[in-house]
Amino acid sequence: MLICGLPASGKSTLARQLAVAIPAIRLDDDEWVTQLGGDVWDDTFRVRVERQLWALTLDLLTQGQSVILEWGHWAREERDEKRLGARSLGVGVELHFLDAPLDELIERSDRRTALGEWTAAPITRAHFEEWSTIFQPPDEEEFSLFDEPVVRV
Ligand SMILES: Nc1ncnc2c1ncn2[C@@H]1O[C@H](COP(=O)(O)OP(=O)(O)OP(=O)(O)O)[C@@H](O)[C@H]1O
Ligand SMILES: [Mg+2]
Repeated sequence: MLICGLPASGKSTLARQLAVAIPAIRLDDDEWVTQLGGDVWDDTFRVRVERQLWALTLDLLTQGQSVILEWGHWAREERDEKRLGARSLGVGVELHFLDAPLDELIERSDRRTALGEWTAAPITRAHFEEWSTIFQPPDEEEFSLFDEPVVRV
């Protein structure tokens, strides 16, 4: 299962609930980058971690485990890679898209930083404004290529 959405859209919150309900292994790049001593703002390191988590995902899927990839998957291309990879193993693949107005995302992000849940350099309004122009939201045609979600929380 893939979850896509901008930062603070609630991906990790949803993934934690789904991981219990399905049950599934939840993989979060931010968590891995941080625990490996990296910085979530280091894109090169993040991409390497994501590549490794994807390799692990293919192994887990091959062994019949359900997996939730809950990093942003901003680009259609990234989602295509995951969908086709899962399909080539003959396993189902679902897409969840979390959307919220930019002001709401900024509020949630600020709250998360204030609560100490986010310990890296803070995300600013300027970041959100830039990222919202880069993010490629899935359209109906893309959703039709995925399976209907089986478990809802
Ligand atoms: N539906 C919601 N309504 C209000 N607040 C929410 C909702 N979902 C999550 N939150 C809160 O917003 C903050 C961000 O949520 P979360 O960490 O799940 O986002 P995320 O998409 O995983 O972000 P990132 O991409 O940075 O990892 C958290 O403090 C969380 O408690
Ligand atoms: Mg998260």
